[in-house]
Amino acid sequence: MSNFNAKSICILGRQPALGLAELESLYGSDHLEPLGPQAARLDIEAGDINFMRLGGTIKVAKILIDLPTTNWSKIEDYLVKNVPLHLRHLPVGKFTLGISAYGLEVKPDIINKTTLKIKKQVRESGRPMRVVPNKEAALNSAQVLHNSLVRRGGWELLLIGSGQRTTLAQTLFVQDIESYGARDQARPKRDARVGMLPPKLAQIIINLAVGRAENEEWRIENEERIPNSQFPIPNSKIRVLDPFCGTGVILQEALLMGYGAIGTDLEPKMVEYSKANLDWLKNRYPDIAGYEVQACDATSHKWAKPIDAVASETYLGRPLTAAPAAAKLAEIVRDVNTILEKFLKNLAPQLKAGAPISLAVPAWRGNSDNLTHLPLIDRISNLGYTLVEFKNASPAELIYFREGQTVARELLVLRKS
Ligand SMILES: C[S@@+](CC[C@H](N)C(=O)[O-])C[C@H]1O[C@@H](n2cnc3c(N)ncnc32)[C@H](O)[C@@H]1O
Repeated sequence: MSNFNAKSICILGRQPALGLAELESLYGSDHLEPLGPQAARLDIEAGDINFMRLGGTIKVAKILIDLPTTNWSKIEDYLVKNVPLHLRHLPVGKFTLGISAYGLEVKPDIINKTTLKIKKQVRESGRPMRVVPNKEAALNSAQVLHNSLVRRGGWELLLIGSGQRTTLAQTLFVQDIESYGARDQARPKRDARVGMLPPKLAQIIINLAVGRAENEEWRIENEERIPNSQFPIPNSKIRVLDPFCGTGVILQEALLMGYGAIGTDLEPKMVEYSKANLDWLKNRYPDIAGYEVQACDATSHKWAKPIDAVASETYLGRPLTAAPAAAKLAEIVRDVNTILEKFLKNLAPQLKAGAPISLAVPAWRGNSDNLTHLPLIDRISNLGYTLVEFKNASPAELIYFREGQTVARELLVLRKS
């Protein structure tokens, strides 16, 4: 921790390990450190973080100072004294302040008292100021966006406590919930039967594969520019293959990141849906790269080469609303395992050694929260792949699920051996 020159903070989403793995994949484990349970510090400038492509980070902030305390009244003293001083450097005009605390023992009403004290100080210096009241210790993305706290004339200050210290940071980017909503719900073709892959999870799946490949190649060529440049490289030539493309959420997010996209699916209807959705996307974003979608069976198809990276939410088996009886579950697991094992065997000889693959495969949650994994995971090296390990996330943490869901998505990050 001592030699680490932290410049920015990422506030992680609902399942922080997914966000940590994503950042590690994009920026490398040497460039980040977890900070408390919900954040990570990076030695990259906040403005150089490619926030738009991150699915597992909800806010990116630039570090202002590290305070040697976690005591709120001392933190408050610091803020009441320093915020008015810093505000003097801003152009005159309306100003809105919000405060978010993470990993600190402080209740929302105490934070509200602090913001009011700051407001009073600032007003005494002749400047009007509005504050955003806290309902929770931290403001949510909607509050930050709707109160324009990441625009000129607004500040969200983050206070992240960890150990004996508190990091003070200013938010530069907050997750654009409206854009995610539009990308998810406004698409012309949706299909509840194949499940709805949230765009944020699609981004994580892609980043776990492509970020790593692109970054490593890029790192070798640009070693001296690290860590100040924005990476990964925009306008990449990489094409992402989704062999179970469904309605094309992965393809859509890959295109929005600047990659080319190839999608295949067994069902002609799904291919038609993906095409319609991507044509709709092309209308809204004419600059996206090329895409192709085709009907074929992932267990036997030979894809056009080269396949640079594979990112997919695979076949998940039939949708389940409750944990099935043991015999039924065994049958479902066997069926899905057969298809996915055949797919992996078909894919392996078509890939170059080292090619990155990131798959969301099903894992079934039982009544007592136990998980049934696909048996193929234990045989992954016999199938021609190596499992990628993350310093900041264990395999058991790379499982996406929502409360009450029976079919969870286990994220497998692989390399062709
Ligand atoms: C959970 S959906 C995938 C969602 C998709 N990744 C997305 O981004 O929207 C699974 C898809 O796998 C397809 N599928 C099932 N078996 C297949 C096979 N053998 N080959 C190709 N596709 C298959 C189904 O038609 C279905 O569309």
